[in-house]
Amino acid sequence: MTQYLPPPYSLQTPDIEKLKSRRAKLLAWMHSQGGGIAVIPSAPERARNRDNQYTYRHDSDFFYLTGFTEPNAWLILIAGDQDQSILFCLNKDEELEIWHGVRWGPKAAAEHFGFDRAEDVDSLDQSLPKLLPGHPRLFTTMSRPAGPELLSRLQLWVTQATTTTRGAQAIPHQWLDLSEVLAEMRLIKDADEQHIMRTAGRISAEGHVRAMQCAQPGKHEFELEAELLYTFRKHGAQAVAYNSIVAAGANACILHHAAGNSVMRDGDLVLIDAGCELDGYASDITRTFPANGKFSGPQRALYDIVLEAQYAAIALTSPAHHWNAGHDAAVRVLTQGLLEVGLLKGSLDEAIETSAYRPFYMHRTGHWLGMDVHDVGSYRKPPATHIERPWRMLQAGMVLTIEPGLYVRPAEHIPEEFWNIGIRIEDDAIVTDQGCELITRGVPVEADEIERLMKG
Ligand code: GLY
Ligand code: MN
Ligand code: MN
Repeated sequence: MTQYLPPPYSLQTPDIEKLKSRRAKLLAWMHSQGGGIAVIPSAPERARNRDNQYTYRHDSDFFYLTGFTEPNAWLILIAGDQDQSILFCLNKDEELEIWHGVRWGPKAAAEHFGFDRAEDVDSLDQSLPKLLPGHPRLFTTMSRPAGPELLSRLQLWVTQATTTTRGAQAIPHQWLDLSEVLAEMRLIKDADEQHIMRTAGRISAEGHVRAMQCAQPGKHEFELEAELLYTFRKHGAQAVAYNSIVAAGANACILHHAAGNSVMRDGDLVLIDAGCELDGYASDITRTFPANGKFSGPQRALYDIVLEAQYAAIALTSPAHHWNAGHDAAVRVLTQGLLEVGLLKGSLDEAIETSAYRPFYMHRTGHWLGMDVHDVGSYRKPPATHIERPWRMLQAGMVLTIEPGLYVRPAEHIPEEFWNIGIRIEDDAIVTDQGCELITRGVPVEADEIERLMKG
């Protein structure tokens, strides 16, 4: 019998008990809704061009519940008289595995990931119409990228089940979305998740340090991107958590400028927003620095305002405060700074009240961070059925970014010395009992420290 190597994109040995307890928690919630059957697919594979796929990335909800990273996999959970968890996954196939890599196969997957049983995914279309009867409710993750394809397959299976049972058994008559309950589960990160995120933060910080050290006038954005990617992969990160933003000069005022061919010029600021994904978890760091290693007067003035805004938001990142407190504090500091340097006129309260700062600060001060870079979880108190709910309080174990910025585009009424300055400073924070732990400060953030680092 051939001895197979482990699949190449298998992460460390899964903690079966943890995966089982996540599934048990979801099953308990399904019971609380009256019971039924949940159908949860992983992400679809996507073609890039002929015979060539985009690098596969599992669906985060699916991964959270299974630890399983192969494509073409489905999780079925049954909350009934007897709870069951069933995985449908690719069968073993020696011929195809020579081309595409080793697979677990149902038998080994069931044992290794702790499912009650597992089956060949090729049998899904036959099996699902047989599994659905007898269950009054169908649960699935409706608001995820697999959405439209998933819903049409589910419809087909329900129709087939209806035809074959002919009223002899209940067919799911209610469809419920699992997205919100899973989002709430994923929002609080346990100690192992926090550990991975700290490591991801350290790797990403090292990538930023390396990119800063390599920067100088005449280099291209893509050369700095290469330093980031090298560092991420060298330390075992499987991917970037999002496409790297490396923006020289005026490009820094485009919030999601992809690293391109632009050349850094003497006197430019460079903004890098990049982070790796490690074992399924994202990191997300932004630093802004002078291409020539020395901030100009106007650059330094705006930089210090953004940094002060970040400190103000960090100070309110604790269980004593609600989600939006940090953003409000950052807006106040940024607006005050804009008044002081003469980019805004009038009183602070009026400038905030009328959102006069928005041409210079048009995004929010952070987002949840986790398996997805913009992670799931409501920013307001659940349940989602009430539209104008109050902001939710922060809780230990939540992870978020803190990322104020200022962006000044050329305009007649703006002094030329500020034109094309784009600054964002972004760190990742784990909320603790007392406050928060910044997990990405391995890269300097103070202007003087950045200058020191760049001097070498
Ligand atoms: N990198 C995307 C963001 O900072 O939200
Ligand atoms: Mn971010
Ligand atoms: Mn970012």
